[in-house]
Formats: sequence, C-alpha cells, structure tokens
Amino acid sequence: MNTIQATDQYTMKAFGRIPLVEAQGHNCTCTDENGKTYIDMGSGIGCNVLGWCNDAWTEAVCNQVKKLQHACNYYYTQPQAELVEKLAKVTGFSRMFLGNSGAEANECAIKVARKYSSDKYGKERGTIISLVNSFHGRTMETLAATGQDVFHQYFYPFPTGHVFAKANDLDDLKSKLDGTVCGIMIEVIQGEGGVCALDKDYVQAIRKICDEQDILLIIDEVQTGCGRTGTFLAQEQFGIKADVTTMAKAIGGGLPIGICLVNEKCENVITPGTHGSTFGGNPVVCAGAVAVLDQITAPGFLDSVKEKAAYLRGELAKIPEIESLSGIGMMIGITLKSKDAHDVMLAANDAGLLILTAKEKVRLLPPLTITKEEMDAALAILRQVLA
Ligand SMILES: Cc1ncc(COP(=O)(O)O)c(C=O)c1O
Repeated sequence: MNTIQATDQYTMKAFGRIPLVEAQGHNCTCTDENGKTYIDMGSGIGCNVLGWCNDAWTEAVCNQVKKLQHACNYYYTQPQAELVEKLAKVTGFSRMFLGNSGAEANECAIKVARKYSSDKYGKERGTIISLVNSFHGRTMETLAATGQDVFHQYFYPFPTGHVFAKANDLDDLKSKLDGTVCGIMIEVIQGEGGVCALDKDYVQAIRKICDEQDILLIIDEVQTGCGRTGTFLAQEQFGIKADVTTMAKAIGGGLPIGICLVNEKCENVITPGTHGSTFGGNPVVCAGAVAVLDQITAPGFLDSVKEKAAYLRGELAKIPEIESLSGIGMMIGITLKSKDAHDVMLAANDAGLLILTAKEKVRLLPPLTITKEEMDAALAILRQVLA
C-alpha cells in the first residue's frame, strides 16, 4: 500500500484528510513525495512556529535524543529545568505543569481552578464558565468546556460543571455567576471559532470580576501564545494577566507539548499525587522548546513578527475578493466576499500553497520565520486562486 492507502485503511477516520503526502521541508517551503513544493501559511495548525526543521531547533532535539530520550518525573532533567526557568522569566508566571497537548494543559487548568476553590470554599464551587464559540480540546472535559453544540454530541454522558456565556456580552456572563463558579476560561482570540478577537474592555471587565469574586481567570493561549500575535502572549495586548494560562502547539516547535502556567495565587494548588503525566516534560521535547523560546525572545524577533503581519495584512487587504480580515498579528482570519473558504483552501493546495480554514473563513498561521520572499510567493498564489 502507498502512504495514503495505508493511512486511510488503518487509522480511525477522525480527519477529513487532503491527499497530499508531506515529505520534507525547510523554513516555510515543503516538498511532497512527488517533489512538488508548497509555501506554508498554516504551520501545521500553528505548531511549526520556526518553520520546518529550523536549524537550531533540529540541533537541540537531535543532540538531546542522543543523550537521554526520556526520564520519568520522579527524577530531574536539565532541559526541563532550563525550559521552566526561562518560561517563568518570560511570562511572569510562577509555576507550571508540563503535559503533552493543548487539551491536557486545559484539563490541568480546570483541575487547578476546581481544587483552588475546593481547598478554600468546599465542594460546591466547581463550575467553569467558558464562552460560546470557544474551542478548548478533544478530551471529554475540554469538549464539555468547548462552547459549540457540534462538539456536544455522541459521547454521552459529558462531564458536568460547565456553563457558557456569550462572547463580548458582559451581562450574559454576569447572569451566570451563581456562586458556584470557580473559573472563567477564555481564548482572547477564538481560533477554531473563526479567528474572532474578544473586545479589550470585555476581557478587562472579566479580570475585574475574577478579582472581586476570587474566581480564577484561565486564558487558553494554545493557539495565540508564543509570539503568534506579535507579543509573547496575546493577553499582553489586552492589558491583563490571567491567573492560569495554557500553552501548547508553537512552544514545542513541532513536538507534542502542553503547559499549564499559574500565578502565585494558585502555585500550591497541585500537590503530590493530584496530577501527573508520564511523558510530560520529556527532555527531547523540552530541549526543542528551549530552542523555540530562545529564538522567539531574541531581541527584535517579536518586532519582526509585527512588521511581517502588517505587511501581510496590508497586501491581503488589497485583494478584491477579500471582504475583511480578523485576528491579531500573524493569526489571520479572512472573510471572502463570495468564494467558499474550503474550496479556496483546496485550490491553494493544488497551486502550491498550504492554508487553513476556521468556520467560514480562510485562516493563515504562517511560521513566524517566514521571509518576505515566501510571503510574496504565497500572496501571488492566493491572488491567482481568488481571482
Ligand atoms: C485554543 C485551543 N485550545 C486547545 C486546543 C487543543 O489542543 P490539542 O489539539 O493540542 O489538544 C486547540 C487546538 O486547536 C486550540 O486551538
């Protein structure tokens, strides 16, 4: 069997796959098994933040894998120590838990909020409010926390203790505060929900409510974090700081990681035996994440992300078929005037450009290392496909 046949035959049919076999890549250009090249504007849904096989990242991963590939979390490893020390400095969060995916990081965040409240107020304060149109993952708990009915099917019974408030509607959120709420969980830009940024005032008002009622503000930065929007965390641009923040995708540079970061207020909530992960904090993954962190936080890097985003957005805005742009920085949602986003994505693939969709929009999450030449090549294909 060839690659497509074997995959289709033996994997569960969870994905609507596109018949394209990615074989190798460098920075934002990849080659399929037939030698055809593609410009990447999707980063493997936001993961390959430094592009494919970035030199420093590859070297860090390869060096580590030859030294020590795994250690159980009863022991210490240098790459894990280096990652958490650097990440604490960059983000200002005081402690973190390392897992393997965005959903796991969000599971940890929900556990932190519930245990924080149960330690302080008893068992009756376990409700998590999240927002309509959110996406927080595919585990049962994070599905239950996801504010889209389409995800609340088939897998009954779903975990309880989740309610939803309409995004950007403070009165609706306030009406859900019934004394049982321990956490409010938001994405400051709803990614899978269609690249929709929340209003700054609304996010700041939630912060205030959380402070007044001792509710933990959880910000899911699985898609927005690690430089994607031009600041290390997107919440910085909303002028607030969460109590709990989750990161995944980009910080791994292409290897599986999920991190739940907490502030001083809840740094002692997780105690020995209350949470864990076999692979979380894996030294190879952490060595790669350190290489990611070093590049994203290097002087001038985030300024270059903002400049690239401004250029890309300026050029996109000139394309006649594009109605409007959403998101912040290099997290770009594109509303088309008349064309169907999914059809455009397939046509772009055929023409040698990898792009994504989110709801009815085209979505771009380019590697942050993309060059001007690669952006111009991608724009040329997109203009041609949309013409
Ligand atoms: C905001 C957000 N949270 C959580 C997740 C789930 O992450 P993972 O697929 O790594 O579990 C995603 C994935 O797209 C996401 O965009």
